[in-house]
Amino acid sequence: MAKYRGSPGTRRSIQGRRVLEDESRLTSVLENMIDGVIMIDRDANLVLVNRAAEQIAGFSVSGLLGQHVFALQPLHVLHPLIERCMTGNERIRDEIALYLPEERIVEVNLIPIVLANGVGGGILMILHDVTSIRRLERIRSEFVANVSHELKTPIASVKGFAETLLAGAMDDPETAKTFLQIIYEESERLNRLIGDLLELSKIESRLVPLRLAPVDLHELIGKTMEAMGNQAANKHIALSMAVDRDLYIEADEDRLRQILINLLSNGISYTPEGGRVCVKAFPVGDGPEEEKVQIVVSDTGIGIPKEDLTRIFERFYKVDKARSRSSGGTGLGLSIVKHLVDLHGGTIHVDSVVGVETSFTIELPILQK
Ligand SMILES: Nc1ncnc2c1ncn2[C@@H]1O[C@H](COP(=O)(O)OP(=O)(O)OP(=O)(O)O)[C@@H](O)[C@H]1O
Ligand SMILES: [Mg+2]
Repeated sequence: MAKYRGSPGTRRSIQGRRVLEDESRLTSVLENMIDGVIMIDRDANLVLVNRAAEQIAGFSVSGLLGQHVFALQPLHVLHPLIERCMTGNERIRDEIALYLPEERIVEVNLIPIVLANGVGGGILMILHDVTSIRRLERIRSEFVANVSHELKTPIASVKGFAETLLAGAMDDPETAKTFLQIIYEESERLNRLIGDLLELSKIESRLVPLRLAPVDLHELIGKTMEAMGNQAANKHIALSMAVDRDLYIEADEDRLRQILINLLSNGISYTPEGGRVCVKAFPVGDGPEEEKVQIVVSDTGIGIPKEDLTRIFERFYKVDKARSRSSGGTGLGLSIVKHLVDLHGGTIHVDSVVGVETSFTIELPILQK
């Protein structure tokens, strides 16, 4: 105690200040932690909850301190773990799902607190939100499963027809020609799929930066539609455009063309013979700061059911496998479009009435920031 000089009163006030300082330091650590911290005493009453815990578990603690933890609805999934931790006096690590109402995956660590006299003093619970990690893992494994599935079909077809040819079908020139044609088409399909996958991964990893320059939308849309003319004519689909002259935006022209080709090719593929596909572009926005351009690609086709509208931008998502198999689609086109629009700082949305029409509306800033 010789450490302290001065009167006992001064010593007490220094000690008191230190206690206060320690406490405020501890409070600030707890409040700024990313992980949730909940502490309960040996009667399972709440004694401490930090802000992160409230956010992760989706409840507000005001007025709840001192209450029994089992009274807290969002945490009822923790009951069995708490009981096990109390009775077994052991550390427990587990993963729980909370529905708030969207699903949240939380890693929980329960640590029994043992007091100096060896008696249980309650439980410290650490909550760590792993929702985004688990979501990414799921997307990755779904992606691998989808790619394998998409590759398997054309490969099985190529293999099957080659085997049949080798087993004797090649002696009949007519049959041989038909089978070779199928092999050729299926390998084209594989080629397209691999090309799209490489493209998507390039765009996603942002390895290729946008080459921004002023783009004349009237010219770009006109030329792209011309290039799609044959595809449309084969299905007797009328293409039309309504785009102001002198409508310029700052964009990567090749990427913008890729967006248009994908949307136009969908419009043509998913519209029965005799239908129409139209592209419009016009400026929108009020102040000069918010100047944007809308590009609308619409068709009079088979449409997209309401329940599929939110999913069609996902990789490999097809409304009806049969309908896009006949168009040779892989389900990657719209996810590429979405990424390209994002890269330009724009938005895309879709409206559709089944059997009547579909329209994709893209909004792009006129100037890139
Ligand atoms: N204009 C449209 N009208 C109706 N359905 C559409 C339209 N555009 C897209 N779809 C639906 O959305 C799905 C996803 O489109 P997406 O372009 O991503 O893939 P895809 O056309 O099947 O294949 P690809 O990768 O060759 O473009 C399509 O399979 C189709 O079912
Ligand atoms: Mg497509």
